[in-house]
Amino acid sequence: MVRRAFFKWLGLSSFSLAVPAHASDSKGRIRREGYLTAPGQPLPESLYELERLARKNMGEDAMLYLNGGADDLLTIKANMEAYRKIQIRARRLVDVREISTQLQLFDKVLDSPILLSPVANQRYFHAEGEMATAKAAKKANHTLIASSLSNFSITEIAKESNADIWFQLYPSPIRDVAKKLIDKAEQAGCRVLVLTVDSPVTGKREKFSLIDFGALRKANYEGILPKGVGILDTGMTWDIIDFLKKNTKMKIVLKGIVTHEDAYLAYEKGVDGIIVSNHGGRQLESNRATIDCLPEIVDTVRGKIPVLIDGGIRRGTDVFKALALGASAVCIGRPYCWGLGAFGQKGVEAALSILKSELIRDMRLAGTPALDKITPAHVT
Ligand SMILES: Cc1cc2nc3c(=O)[nH]c(=O)nc-3n(C[C@H](O)[C@H](O)[C@H](O)COP(=O)(O)O)c2cc1C
Repeated sequence: MVRRAFFKWLGLSSFSLAVPAHASDSKGRIRREGYLTAPGQPLPESLYELERLARKNMGEDAMLYLNGGADDLLTIKANMEAYRKIQIRARRLVDVREISTQLQLFDKVLDSPILLSPVANQRYFHAEGEMATAKAAKKANHTLIASSLSNFSITEIAKESNADIWFQLYPSPIRDVAKKLIDKAEQAGCRVLVLTVDSPVTGKREKFSLIDFGALRKANYEGILPKGVGILDTGMTWDIIDFLKKNTKMKIVLKGIVTHEDAYLAYEKGVDGIIVSNHGGRQLESNRATIDCLPEIVDTVRGKIPVLIDGGIRRGTDVFKALALGASAVCIGRPYCWGLGAFGQKGVEAALSILKSELIRDMRLAGTPALDKITPAHVT
């Protein structure tokens, strides 16, 4: 009520939540930069072009939520700019006719080292939300990390898409709720549980912190989260790892590690993997880019468990640099949601295709025909 009155006062009725309509006409043609593009016509050339199209199709409010972050947005900027400071040392006269982007992560061989980071509330970007994303992940053969704060349940997403899905967990302060979420994810066939550890509270996000998400389902929490209880656990400590290990057969990955001290503790606690992440600059305004955090974590873990990274990856060269600095794989958040907001499932497919084809081209240009050929010597 207070929020509604606030927006009325501001004259911002558009801040109240409306799921943006997908901008396609009755023949399924998609509106693109002021003209209509039939499906099958050339895709946007870069993720940045997809971002421009998303802004057009999903509108400013949704874009504010998607592209926004904590405080002065300096950590978002740092994530992206740090990649520009790293240079690639290409090798010559290597046979690069065949390029392999395959890797083994846990017990599965993946086709691509680019995973989809968990992003909440995807129906805010497109009516088909996480369902479109998961179908795109399946079609393009990428692994999706589904947010526990999704508008479709993990059961629905997994069943409809049949994609390779990891489940990201906001456990709430109630362990019984966490247990029920874990059971749901396990029954849905998820093989990895990703616990987000950078969010004891929500970061200070100005401008969009007042968006009322009341109209969107918190599908996974329906019927299990008591009224008035939040999904974040402000009291969470390392003890939760024992709880998770006791309650699931899924591999356990911590998302949000940014120091070697915590990487060490995670390894000691028997965690199966780490995602170096600052939540895309939406939590603590630390001004420290994730790619700058990566080396100390890789040095500590020494290949014993996989280290993934997300934040600011927009080009194939960014993926290449992260892999060269020791990441096993990377994840992207906003870029695939630009695709979702612009074109639904096809747009997510476009985002994945753009980034993967850039990576393949860059691997050829750098003389690295397989992921394990990309080494620290390839960057400076
Ligand atoms: C709109 C939005 C919602 C997000 N929701 C979640 C979430 O539910 N759980 C989570 O662990 N991270 C969440 N994140 C963080 C992403 O998983 C990821 O760390 C970040 O987007 C990576 O940075 P990038 O967007 O620059 O690729 C969210 C990010 C955005 C932009």
